[in-house]
Amino acid sequence: MFQENAKVVDHYTIASKTHLIKLHCPKIAAIIRPGQFVMIKLPGGNDPLLGRPFALYDTTLDDQGKPTGIEIVYLELGKMTSLLPAVVPGQSIETWGPLGKPFPIFPNKDHVAFIAGGIGQTPFLAFGKQLLGIKAYGGDSIKKSLNKVTMIYGVRSAPFLAGVDHFKSIGLDLFCATDDGSQGFHGRVTELLKTLPKAEHWYGCGPEPMLHALCKLALEDNTPCHVSLESPMACGLGICFSCVVKVKAEGGWDYKRICVDGPVFNADTLVLE
Ligand SMILES: Cc1cc2nc3c(=O)[nH]c(=O)nc-3n(C[C@H](O)[C@H](O)[C@H](O)COP(=O)(O)OP(=O)(O)OC[C@H]3O[C@@H](n4cnc5c(N)ncnc54)[C@H](O)[C@@H]3O)c2cc1C
Ligand code: FES
Repeated sequence: MFQENAKVVDHYTIASKTHLIKLHCPKIAAIIRPGQFVMIKLPGGNDPLLGRPFALYDTTLDDQGKPTGIEIVYLELGKMTSLLPAVVPGQSIETWGPLGKPFPIFPNKDHVAFIAGGIGQTPFLAFGKQLLGIKAYGGDSIKKSLNKVTMIYGVRSAPFLAGVDHFKSIGLDLFCATDDGSQGFHGRVTELLKTLPKAEHWYGCGPEPMLHALCKLALEDNTPCHVSLESPMACGLGICFSCVVKVKAEGGWDYKRICVDGPVFNADTLVLE
């Protein structure tokens, strides 16, 4: 893990209350892989005191293809994410990572599906590029792992759909859903998923109720499924135990820390309550 005082290179709005920020942090960018995250802290002051976790959206490269930084996409939600839009290019943000484990890739699969709810879309751009052999991460060589990635992306209403052009441009088969029917399928991503050709493996990220519904569906449907959990975190380093999730264990259940044992978990191992 590296800690870098990352200069903001660019920062702009991509959807309602949703922004993309580019940070110059070459050490982190060189080793981070899709599914991993960084913690960031606002410049100037200690409010909020704690850093906040954000998934890798993508890396930025120089003319020679060398990673120079990372991109994060965030939704304005609470204390830090409401202050973050005021940060301008040239300012620096304390950034540490990569944290957590990357998405697992399984051999001999041809078609997987990403199921994203709300800002849970963020880990899937880099992962799509990696699986489809468009880009490599973490010092790996480019490797195409499969031929087809379907993405099912749901938000509350059309203005919150973020990065749709980014996902389409890498050849993902994208299906959108909105809670209010303002664009695409009217209803939940899990309902839309049931109407589509069956993928061999599902990867999900989004709000807890959506992930619960997805994990339940995966068990009923006998489809292997991994989910990336985005619960609040204090340290991001495995020290404070503020981020635990219940997993099945011998004799019942046990706790795992999302920041170091995850954030990606096999749906089959989670205790769904
Ligand atoms: C591994 C990981 C990756 C993440 N990636 C992204 C990302 O790419 N983009 C993004 O926008 N967000 C992401 N998040 C969530 C992000 O960290 C929170 O949105 C952020 O911490 C909110 O900070 P805040 O100071 O604005 O809100 P706070 O002031 O800390 O919280 C405001 C309200 O939101 C609730 N809240 C805070 N965090 C969460 C959460 N994670 N889930 C549900 N409710 C929460 C609090 O309980 C409170 O009610 C990720 C979280 C994790 C754990
Ligand atoms: S956030 Fe501190 S242990 Fe996970």
